[in-house]
Amino acid sequence: MYPFNIQTMEKYKVADLLKSTEYGKEVSIKGWVRTKRGNKNVAFVALNDGSVIHNIQAVVDLAKISEDELKHVTTGACIAITGTLTKSQGQGQSVEIQTTKLEVLGAADETFPLQKKAHTLEFLREIAHLRPRTNTFGAILRIRHHMSFAIHKFFNDRGFYYLHAPIVTGTDAEGAGEMFRVTTLDMDKPPRNPDGSIDYKQDFFGRQTNLTVSGQLESELAATALGLVYTFGPTFRAENSNTPRHLAEFWMIEPEMAFYEINDNMDLAESMLKYLVQYALENCSDDIAFLNNRAIEEDKTKKEHERSKSTLLERLNNVKNEPFKRITYTEAMEVLKLGKKFEFRPEWGKDLQKEHENFLVDHFKVPVIVTDYPKDIKAFYMKQNEDGKTVRAMDVLFPYVGEMIGGSQREENYDKLQARIKEMNIHEQSLWWYLETRKYGTCPHSGFGLGFERLILFITGMTNVRDIIPFPRTPKNAEF
Ligand code: 4AD
Ligand code: MG
Repeated sequence: MYPFNIQTMEKYKVADLLKSTEYGKEVSIKGWVRTKRGNKNVAFVALNDGSVIHNIQAVVDLAKISEDELKHVTTGACIAITGTLTKSQGQGQSVEIQTTKLEVLGAADETFPLQKKAHTLEFLREIAHLRPRTNTFGAILRIRHHMSFAIHKFFNDRGFYYLHAPIVTGTDAEGAGEMFRVTTLDMDKPPRNPDGSIDYKQDFFGRQTNLTVSGQLESELAATALGLVYTFGPTFRAENSNTPRHLAEFWMIEPEMAFYEINDNMDLAESMLKYLVQYALENCSDDIAFLNNRAIEEDKTKKEHERSKSTLLERLNNVKNEPFKRITYTEAMEVLKLGKKFEFRPEWGKDLQKEHENFLVDHFKVPVIVTDYPKDIKAFYMKQNEDGKTVRAMDVLFPYVGEMIGGSQREENYDKLQARIKEMNIHEQSLWWYLETRKYGTCPHSGFGLGFERLILFITGMTNVRDIIPFPRTPKNAEF
């Protein structure tokens, strides 16, 4: 065998050592110093290597390691430790390392911004390059990883194929015009047509292109060949909404299923969300416990009426255990009549506001799936109902984050789809390939889009989407 990992074989992670009972064994570990304390005889160094939220404690006997060496072991420094694994004498940890050798790989002076005191999330956004070294962001990044993996596992176990939708496209799948343009034309003097408009035929792709807002149109093509598919990739929206739930660059999961009707679509969405919450509870329990306590502590600093009505763990268990409520948009309008103090009065034909979504979820005390929205507030591709007024849309509304999923059954009838495209003044020519799926072997099909960052907000209990993606892209913000 290629002697590829001989070196790494002898290396350890804090996560493994904390579980080990091989007392007396010589081990070595590398990581970043969180704290150092002690007296003139002995120092205790808390070391974290990112494999788990907990630190391992290295006990340094000052008779063996010189004070000169220890001088550079400060918060933020990167060090390598070799020593003997022993059962811990101290409270709160199972094992520790009796240090025999200590090497400073990278010092960090006293300007290192993450000293022991707690920092505000706003401050941490300004040091996004260092915030992964905090407990909170370490936990979030590990949870993001586990959730990504769980999404692929969920679909793979159910016979879905992962489709790589393009990132550069010539279409606006949602028809909302919120696209970032992709071009290599000289912005100062773009080539012009005789009528003065920009001549995109001379652009890199020979046409106008933009970053994708959704992989759905491509996923529909694949579903009419492979049956069950999903995309999981970055999507981009130039919507100028500075809210705690919107990003200009976010990740979306878009399953698309041939032969699924709207009820099958809802069943899949509900079982997927339950699966993901359960997966998180089972595989990220330490990180979730940390975030649960963090939110409880943060709540204590808030005024009574600003505190959450439930803990993170209660919300996760509620989603895992309780069936979601399913109602139509028209029924939702009736329920909203019970609400008194809305800023925007609910009105049939208008989109639901965040306050309306919150009201519905509070009212039913479980996630709510709203279906059959008025056609004029939804995208062109949704299947038209017989009433001529509504479409077979479904939005999954969640406590705490609002719209988690948006989806629908698709219009599979060529004439109806074409008529709707015309009616909505959408550039039909750019969708000729999409329309052809309705010409050659069309079938009933459905799908939805799950916003990955909305999911992570819910699983972590964090309140701002800027704090759960490593490098947020929002209006006027793309520094890191
Ligand atoms: O409801 P949306 O716009 O639906 C679509 O894009 C469809 N093409 C999906 C489909 O049927 N295949 O977006 C889907 C989800 C939303 O419910 C929300 O969770 C998330 O994507 N989302 C955003 N997340 C963060 N920042 C934004 N700006 C988002 N816009 C949508
Ligand atoms: Mg939506």
